[in-house]
Amino acid sequence: MYNLLKGKKGIIFGALDENSIAWKTAERAHEEGAQFVLTNAPIAMRMGAINELAEKTNSQIVPADATSMEDLDNLVEKSMEILGGKLDFVLHSIGMSVNVRKGKHYTESNYDFTTKGWDVSAVSFHKVMNVLYKRDAMNEWGSIVALTYMAAQRVFPDYNDMADNKAYLESIARSFGYFFGVDKKVRVNTISQSPTPTTAGQGVKGFGGFLAYADKMSPLGNATALECANYTISMFSDLTKMVTLQNLFHDGGFSNMGVSQSVMDYFVEQE
Ligand SMILES: NC(=O)c1ccc[n+]([C@@H]2O[C@H](COP(=O)([O-])OP(=O)(O)OC[C@H]3O[C@@H](n4cnc5c(N)ncnc54)[C@H](O)[C@@H]3O)[C@@H](O)[C@H]2O)c1
Repeated sequence: MYNLLKGKKGIIFGALDENSIAWKTAERAHEEGAQFVLTNAPIAMRMGAINELAEKTNSQIVPADATSMEDLDNLVEKSMEILGGKLDFVLHSIGMSVNVRKGKHYTESNYDFTTKGWDVSAVSFHKVMNVLYKRDAMNEWGSIVALTYMAAQRVFPDYNDMADNKAYLESIARSFGYFFGVDKKVRVNTISQSPTPTTAGQGVKGFGGFLAYADKMSPLGNATALECANYTISMFSDLTKMVTLQNLFHDGGFSNMGVSQSVMDYFVEQE
């Protein structure tokens, strides 16, 4: 451990269970010397696993539905009280599509479901930053990160309306990141992670095939949740101060591949 986040304070959204990318990030942030508040939707708290993480990382939990401005306002106010001042980092690790959950095909979206998924997965990032900005809750050179997936740029049919939500999320990072940079010297980025076996990831139809394909296509293989946590820690550290408005691929090289030899070999065998 390198004490990369020594003295830094933050909020981590989205630790549901030990597979969650946010869970691994909380563990790593703790190891690197950070103090933080954990938060998740009140309904997700019922599973109770987050209490174990809080104990392990010596942190407190403040529930918040990330679509509710009232909840977010309370979260930021309480977090500043608990941590004794402004924040240095925030992780938005939230995603959910009702169309995916209900097995709706993309071409037959239910638009109430679409709106709900968009609010949870994308607009919530704007709402979080809105509250942080208004309350002047971030220290200078603070870092805000949201997690995304490459379906924002390329077609992955079973990713459904989450592809559109991720495109919107990435755009919010740039648009809000401009104002956060100019007005408060705070950086805002998205990290575009490999497919990862978590509750949200496994909700995508045919996830096993998807995971194996990405692994075979990537020169370094798929990045794990722990590796994503490590990258996120580097983005919260002072070593990446001048990086902002970026969508950063953390995917073992997948995003720049056309085809790999092992995928070619598979099709040659079928000939
Ligand atoms: N797993 C993957 O393959 C993968 C790949 C790239 C990006 N991501 C992204 O990483 C992020 C984290 O997902 P994960 O894979 O760790 O899965 P996860 O299921 O562990 O985490 C998703 C979290 O979103 C939370 N959430 C849902 N609705 C909420 C609401 N209204 N308010 C507050 N929180 C809410 C859930 O409770 C859960 O903790 C998501 O943005 C996801 O899209 C995941």
